[in-house]
Amino acid sequence: MATDNRTDIADIAELNYGGRTTKLPVVRGSEGEAGLDIAKLRALTGLVTLDPGYGNTGACRSAVTFIDGERGILRYRGYPIEQLAQKSTFLEVAWLLVHGELPTEGQLEAFTDRVTRHTLLHEKFRSFFDALPHDAHPMPTCAAAVGALATWYQGPETDAAVDDAVVRLIAKMPTIAAWSYKHSLGQPFVYPRNDLGYAANFLKMMFGVPAEDFVPDPVVAKALDLLLVLHADHEQNCSTSTVRMVGSSRANLFASIGAGISALWGPLHGGANQEVIEMLEQIAHEDGNADVFLTKCKDRGDTTRLMGFGHRVYKAYDPRAAILKKTCGEVLARRGVSNRLLDIAMRLEEVALRDEYFVKRNLYPNVDFYSGVIYQAIGIPVNMFTAMFVMGRLPGWIAQWMEMRKDPDTRIGRPRQIYTGATEREYVPIQVRG
Ligand code: ACO
Repeated sequence: MATDNRTDIADIAELNYGGRTTKLPVVRGSEGEAGLDIAKLRALTGLVTLDPGYGNTGACRSAVTFIDGERGILRYRGYPIEQLAQKSTFLEVAWLLVHGELPTEGQLEAFTDRVTRHTLLHEKFRSFFDALPHDAHPMPTCAAAVGALATWYQGPETDAAVDDAVVRLIAKMPTIAAWSYKHSLGQPFVYPRNDLGYAANFLKMMFGVPAEDFVPDPVVAKALDLLLVLHADHEQNCSTSTVRMVGSSRANLFASIGAGISALWGPLHGGANQEVIEMLEQIAHEDGNADVFLTKCKDRGDTTRLMGFGHRVYKAYDPRAAILKKTCGEVLARRGVSNRLLDIAMRLEEVALRDEYFVKRNLYPNVDFYSGVIYQAIGIPVNMFTAMFVMGRLPGWIAQWMEMRKDPDTRIGRPRQIYTGATEREYVPIQVRG
């Protein structure tokens, strides 16, 4: 059994079923979270567990990210998100997530240099985009392109090869995302430049054209870098669990990440900030009255929801939303963009946080409430919002995939089910079927 040699067994729970008492270990994590280890449950009792949506199921032990949704805490490798947001950069956070420790100066320099020098795609890769319709959405384009990278890097998966794959993925993702967008516009691809930082390079590839110089705004690049930091990991969510599940079959890193991108594409996962913008624009278009809109959100007969509010895990203010709210004001002021959508968002928040409906249900702003407003202010089109999320989440997916591959408890992901279909019956020849 997975837990036999483990030192984190804190207690024993007893399950009474079928006239027998079965003892099951309770494991405890470093932050005190307790979980019932059911690895032997079926062997000992004949039972499996049923948990649609996995709301009560811990699929792994993980040392990457800690979330306490009740207290609004998010930490990568132990470091509070507030400190990383203020003091770190995306590439440093990527190293932290992948390697478990903050890099030394030399390590960060070498890593940054490697990432900077791997941003180009193979020249033949340009024709990959030509095969897609001109209005292809950037998300399936990104998923397919990352899967296709596996055709260029096919060697055996040694530690050194995985390390190269990690660098290549982090380096090429902004190029793939920006070129997916350029393809959808019918504009020429813009090549990366080694004298620009990670976020600035992406802005150049997104908004530059060969006909004129484009100088990325450092304030915008910094805001983008912050957004990437805030999205870098969020423990066992839908896309991360997908990456782990695909990787558990020993599929390579590119194939696993490609699957994660597809999982993130769904509107219930990565697509919510787009819906926030549409909601704010709708309110602005109608009469700008936040109070009237909130009344609709509270009406049980109306399906309208306050998008960007509420979270499956956070039952307090999402710490990422608090950081973004502040950045939002700074970026909009810098860009000289109208504050109308931000004003409406802040008014919605102010009213909702005093309203009994939202207070009683612990509904607070989540990361998506303000991120879309910032993306829009810096010119990112709505259909690229989820691709921005991909760039941010990439190091988290990689760290979780690597942790899974090194974990001695990892087995191929293969859930059980409770079968509810027909019991055995005789095959009926087609001629006699009524
Ligand atoms: N507006 C109005 N009411 C809400 C909202 C909301 N945004 N969110 C939850 N509620 C209400 C529900 O109607 C329900 O009320 P009831 O108890 O009277 O039936 C109660 O709060 C609990 O809601 P659930 O849907 O059961 O909560 P769950 O944890 O399953 O859902 C979710 C979380 C999907 C995020 C939900 O809060 C929601 O739909 N929010 C809006 C969409 C959104 O912002 N998604 C982004 C999440 S962050 C991310 O994925 C990166």
